[in-house]
Amino acid sequence: MNMTLSLKGKTALITGAASGIGRNMAEVFARAGAAVVIADLNQDGADATAKAIADAGGKAIGIAMNVTDEAAVNAGFERAVKALGPIDILVSNAGIQIVNPIENYAFADWKKMLAIHLDGAFLTTKAALRSMYAGDRGGVVIYMGSVHSHEASKLKSAYVAAKHGLLGLAKVLAKEGAAHNVRAHVICPGFVRTPLVDKQIPEQAKELGISAADVIRNVMLKDTVDGEFTTVDDVADVALFLAAFPSAALTGQSIVVSHGWFMQ
Ligand code: NAI
Repeated sequence: MNMTLSLKGKTALITGAASGIGRNMAEVFARAGAAVVIADLNQDGADATAKAIADAGGKAIGIAMNVTDEAAVNAGFERAVKALGPIDILVSNAGIQIVNPIENYAFADWKKMLAIHLDGAFLTTKAALRSMYAGDRGGVVIYMGSVHSHEASKLKSAYVAAKHGLLGLAKVLAKEGAAHNVRAHVICPGFVRTPLVDKQIPEQAKELGISAADVIRNVMLKDTVDGEFTTVDDVADVALFLAAFPSAALTGQSIVVSHGWFMQ
């Protein structure tokens, strides 16, 4: 391989990194040499992730941030830049899931979903571009999409709409950012066993009137080539590749990591 997957000298800010996919990615990025900002609603979890990274010899700080709150996002980025320098890599990863059929989907839940996934992506992008556009120093923005950026599932109207929306944002940023050496991508994982998914299994079982085992086998993993969950390491490795890639040959892409559930 010609390229090295090193993030030495880079600063990465990952939202929702107190748990699941984001937390593991923060650890992988730190091992690749990045200084990592763990930005999460859950301050204790963010601090715990940062401590785990520091204990392993890496550099990280935890920052409390609600990605739907513009003032909190801007204040968090300011603190992050002061502590670890300009942001080179943003991973907009914070997310939640609320499942319900459309006829029962509360408007408040719809708005909450769009706020976290889309407003959060927009606000953190805007804040990161202040670092990345300065002197055209550039950077990489990665949005955490989903197979649901391309496919639909029952009960997930707001999630599917929001995850599709991220594709549009990434493509616009790939075009606008090019002049400033900024690249943008969406990573689209299949089901990964994190707290977000563990919570959904009994909820979907109840809503669909089937067992938890059947939700896993016949709903979540039904269309994969091997019946396997995607892992947090699978997602982190793809993120590392995109973050380390040296040129705009690769920009505006959506990379699906799903055991063949969705094929482009
Ligand atoms: P998780 O529940 O383990 O972690 C999500 C994190 O986001 C939590 O630490 C939570 O505190 C944080 N968060 C929630 N709302 C926030 C807000 N307003 N501001 C800041 N932080 C907030 O979930 P997981 O599974 O690691 O998901 C991460 C991302 O990956 C989400 O965007 C999710 O939609 C996406 N994803 C997850 C898949 C899965 O199967 N687990 C599959 C495809 C995509």
